[in-house]
Amino acid sequence: MTEQKGFTLWMTGLSGSGKTTIAKIMEKQLKDRGLKIERLDGDVVRQSLTRDLGFSKEDRDKNIERVTFVAKLLSRNEVGVIASFISPYQAVRDMVRSETTNFIEVFVYAPLEVCADRDVKGLYEKAFAGEIPNFTGVSDPYEEPVNADVVVPTHEETPEESAARLIAYLEEKGYIPSA
Ligand code: ADX
Repeated sequence: MTEQKGFTLWMTGLSGSGKTTIAKIMEKQLKDRGLKIERLDGDVVRQSLTRDLGFSKEDRDKNIERVTFVAKLLSRNEVGVIASFISPYQAVRDMVRSETTNFIEVFVYAPLEVCADRDVKGLYEKAFAGEIPNFTGVSDPYEEPVNADVVVPTHEETPEESAARLIAYLEEKGYIPSA
């Protein structure tokens, strides 16, 4: 049997683009195959490891730096890491690529209007009303990936289709055994 390799599948994209939904589907399917997977998610990590941080550029960079440290340790020890963070800055995503094992940059894309329409957490309404400062895509920058390994357009495909495509990509790269 081919062993799994460590990897860092890094999902970047606007709030509400679908990162967490896709990550959870992938996590379940890969764990059902008996693979070692850890999921790191912005909303979760920000309640523990980085709960002292806000959303200034400096704090976002620190958030990603700490998470990168964790992803680095896991991915170099044959664990598959599925990370979902807005991670709006290209330079920081490039840093994650250089620090982690088998890094894959996934751009989870939907137009801002679509994310705002979904408004899963009700944050866009508040952001447009000026109640949340520095909200990504509204009053704070999002640098679209310039060299994403995979783009998943979530306004055009279901989360299940996106997850299946990403799992196929992991198989093609030889990071996980083919099902
Ligand atoms: S990152 O920019 O540092 O990568 P991260 O992915 O950890 O962000 O956290 C984003 C989540 O924090 C969003 O999905 C949303 O639920 C919440 N959030 C609260 N305030 C903001 C804000 N100003 N900008 C973006 N997201 C915010």
